[in-house]
Amino acid sequence: MSAKIHINLDKFKKNVEFLTDKLHESNINVFAVSKVFCAEKPLIDILNNCDIAGIADSRILNLKKIKTNKSKMLLRIPAISEVSDVIEYADISLNSEIAVIRELNDFAKRKNVIHKIILMIDLGDLREGIYFNDFDYNIINEIRNLKNIKLLGIGTNLTCYGAVIPTKQTYELLNEIKNNIEKMYKIKLEVISGGNSSSIYLLDGKIPDFINQLRIGEGFVLGRETAFGRNIEGMHDDIFTLEVEIIELKNKPTIPFGEIGVDAFGRKLKYVDKGIIKRAILNIGKQDVSCEYLIPPKGVNIIGSSSDHLIVEIVSGKYGIGDKIVFKLNYGGILGLMTSSYVEKVYE
Ligand SMILES: Cc1ncc(COP(=O)(O)O)c(C=O)c1O
Repeated sequence: MSAKIHINLDKFKKNVEFLTDKLHESNINVFAVSKVFCAEKPLIDILNNCDIAGIADSRILNLKKIKTNKSKMLLRIPAISEVSDVIEYADISLNSEIAVIRELNDFAKRKNVIHKIILMIDLGDLREGIYFNDFDYNIINEIRNLKNIKLLGIGTNLTCYGAVIPTKQTYELLNEIKNNIEKMYKIKLEVISGGNSSSIYLLDGKIPDFINQLRIGEGFVLGRETAFGRNIEGMHDDIFTLEVEIIELKNKPTIPFGEIGVDAFGRKLKYVDKGIIKRAILNIGKQDVSCEYLIPPKGVNIIGSSSDHLIVEIVSGKYGIGDKIVFKLNYGGILGLMTSSYVEKVYE
């Protein structure tokens, strides 16, 4: 048996409906982010039947395969070399470079379509967006003059690179830019896209009124907000689980025997001497997922992994060769395992 990732579609549907309702109560529409599960069809089909505004993905290849009547949004700011695909497969894209926006306009003109964009503002997280302090309002004029581009609004992304938590103060920087644009150009921006699952913790009445859109990935798949990593009551954190098989089970020491160099990945590891322990080898490895993203069941401790082997300590529980061990997963685990073609996807 190859390793399997089990996906509970009913729990996924419940999570999406639960959080979408909560967001709607705060007048926020939501784009569900599909990149973590590689935009796999069974999950996209669930999203198609939920009351979300659209589906967002960072990869063009995923947008290309998504079949939906909802709007498709490209999350990663486009490379200038891929603008023709952006026009072909995305209705909306997030952007921060005027050179790319001009090119999007050219291709949209050729295809005789209007492409919608959200202009990204960096509020300090230091990933994509025009840095809030350097915002030059002339860019709005230039975008408005592009006949095949529609400026839907502005947006930001937080708690990704710089781990900046969305707060009232941080959002005030975005509000100021929004108000200045609207006053200067006598327009109303349709969309203020306030971020990702790290904004969920503000939903208890603390999210500023001017934010009317969030782009949610982890919140849906793990039922948690990501500013503080807390589970959301009423949501599921076990939609995705990993089932792996024991391929070796032996008592061995905890310290390698012999002269010690570097491991298979060129690292010098530290080994703690716990004497002889029961060690199991499982049929999953770094090629599929990094072991720090796996949450073992009670009685099993993760020791480490190589490309194709996960080594665990069996502290308690009756296990034998061929037995399966089921792990819960965090975000990186779902991402890696859904991406690996060596892992069987089992929808339930
Ligand atoms: C621009 C952007 N928005 C939203 C998201 C969704 O983030 P999260 O999974 O934390 O909700 C991501 C990452 O997937 C992203 O890159």
